[in-house]
Amino acid sequence: MAKNTYGLDLGSYDIKVYDKKRDTIWNEKCVIAIKNKREIYAVGDDAYCMYEKTPESIEVLFPMKAGMITGFTNMQFLLQNLIKGERQFSHGAEYVVAVPTDVTKVQKKAFFDLVIHSTAKAKEVNIVERSIADAIGMNIDARNTRGTFIANFGGETTELSVLAGGGMVLNRLLPIGGRNYDDAIITIIRNSHDFLIGRHTAEALRRRFDIFKADSEAAFMVAGRDLITGVPMQKAISINLVRAAVRDPLMECIQSIQSLLDRTPPEVRTAIHKNGIFLTGGVANTNGLDAYIEKNVGITTRTAVNPEFCSVNGLKKIIMSKELRQLAFSMLDDRYRWMS
Ligand SMILES: Nc1ncnc2c1ncn2[C@@H]1O[C@H](COP(=O)(O)OP(=O)(O)OP(=O)(O)O)[C@@H](O)[C@H]1O
Ligand SMILES: [Mg+2]
Repeated sequence: MAKNTYGLDLGSYDIKVYDKKRDTIWNEKCVIAIKNKREIYAVGDDAYCMYEKTPESIEVLFPMKAGMITGFTNMQFLLQNLIKGERQFSHGAEYVVAVPTDVTKVQKKAFFDLVIHSTAKAKEVNIVERSIADAIGMNIDARNTRGTFIANFGGETTELSVLAGGGMVLNRLLPIGGRNYDDAIITIIRNSHDFLIGRHTAEALRRRFDIFKADSEAAFMVAGRDLITGVPMQKAISINLVRAAVRDPLMECIQSIQSLLDRTPPEVRTAIHKNGIFLTGGVANTNGLDAYIEKNVGITTRTAVNPEFCSVNGLKKIIMSKELRQLAFSMLDDRYRWMS
């Protein structure tokens, strides 16, 4: 029987997997809950629900930080335990893994090692730079573009890439993502209302408010704890507070886009002005983010369809096409430029 091929986009927030044989894409939160420091209690979405709600004996851990694998063993446990029943990774399969560009070769190799040393005994592991996968996911001709700018707004990172002439011209991985916006929301609410909310609540606020719309009246009731009395209660949080919280991290992303463009060779920059900026990653679902970037940077900006699945969709296309397969490298290959 022919061996299966999987496409993996391992994110700090969500793991996305393409299974060629079943022709499906599935995703689960990149979270593991461990009991008494050794027993796996829950993984994926189930573990994420437990975050900030578990007794002391259960620890809820995120084995990836800012786009990189920081808890290697936990990440291995997580991958192996996520895949139950239908999802089981078949033995001897081939893997195509999306990796960030602007990281050290050791960090990049951690993705390779994670899969090659898994219990599923991979036959072959190839890697693709994430922005290339994003470009393919959006049907951009990554190999022939004269200039394309991709910004992947993820859970803990914002990865900015300039592609031209079949390769990466510039790339920057910012440690800013949905989680940082949520932390900023928690801080501003604590400081202005003496009120402590959890990270799930902060995320829900950010996702529910239309922060880029000119509306200053909107408010939502959220649950939290009054820090003066210590009593759990509900409070109305206004859209303006959430807007104020996300402003600084968002401005940092805009400034980084601008500075990457400033460093881009003029002919490539001209092509980017013509082709535009493309947004991917889960945070790109935020209504109006594209218009906000367009206004601040002065370049037409568009958001991918289902932006959080853009990279894994790109991996799917790379896996399906003989021609696009050339975009995937083996880390064991002598010609692999990052290892040289
Ligand atoms: N509809 C939405 N509106 C706003 N934010 C959203 C929406 N859907 C998802 N998100 C946010 O997108 C983020 C996850 O995006 P994504 O899956 O691209 O991250 P990731 O790949 O796991 O992380 P990273 O690439 O940074 O390692 C989370 O912060 C989540 O809150
Ligand atoms: Mg991602």
